[in-house]
Amino acid sequence: MRSSHLRRAALAGLSLSTALLAACQPGTAAAPSPSTSPAPAPAAPVADLLARGEYLVRVAGCNDCHTAGYAERQGDVPKAQWLTGSAPLGYFGPWGTTYATNLRLRMQELDEAQWLEYSANLHTRPIMPDFSVRAMSEEDRRAIHRFIRSLGPAGTRAPDALPPGQTPPPPYLALVLPPAPAGAPPAAAEPR
Ligand code: HEC
Repeated sequence: MRSSHLRRAALAGLSLSTALLAACQPGTAAAPSPSTSPAPAPAAPVADLLARGEYLVRVAGCNDCHTAGYAERQGDVPKAQWLTGSAPLGYFGPWGTTYATNLRLRMQELDEAQWLEYSANLHTRPIMPDFSVRAMSEEDRRAIHRFIRSLGPAGTRAPDALPPGQTPPPPYLALVLPPAPAGAPPAAAEPR
């Protein structure tokens, strides 16, 4: 067909002129033609990422706090209930009382790019080990996001955190610390 010939010729011309343009840029390497350009590092196959995400959630302790009853049942909780939050259990300490977030709902609000940015700089109140998430590789954080999203939304939002000094309704886990030494920074009351 004549029109498809023309279209192909036009496309070839376009990629040629793009290559020429790139070759003329001072200090930049000539753009390799599309056929020879190295493929970007292939993302791990989806099934691998999901399996890795599940494994990480299982062994990195996410379920211990974010899945109600997980520790009590020695991890014998169906995946359908995973990561729907710690409520009604609260975590009480000098920071107030926090409730492990419902990650099944939270992940629905964040696309992969947003999650990668957010999790790389994650700062929450205690008792969340935000430092562990920050220390994870990007691929591990991607796998966690894929896996949690694959479970779909479930459950209800965690209760809001309570301010320091307010005794929460039971059940709660209390961390009793010695008084902070003079000059010590105050316990974080708000996520940064
Ligand atoms: C020791 C208990 C504990 C463990 C283990 C834990 N979390 Fe948390 N997590 C919490 C609590 C409590 C909060 C709420 C913190 C707050 O209110 O600031 C939280 C908050 C978070 C948030 C912030 C949610 C938001 O509101 O945006 C993310 C993300 C998160 N956890 C992911 C994880 C992942 C992933 C793991 C496993 C690697 C994990 N958590 C392990 C207790 C825990």
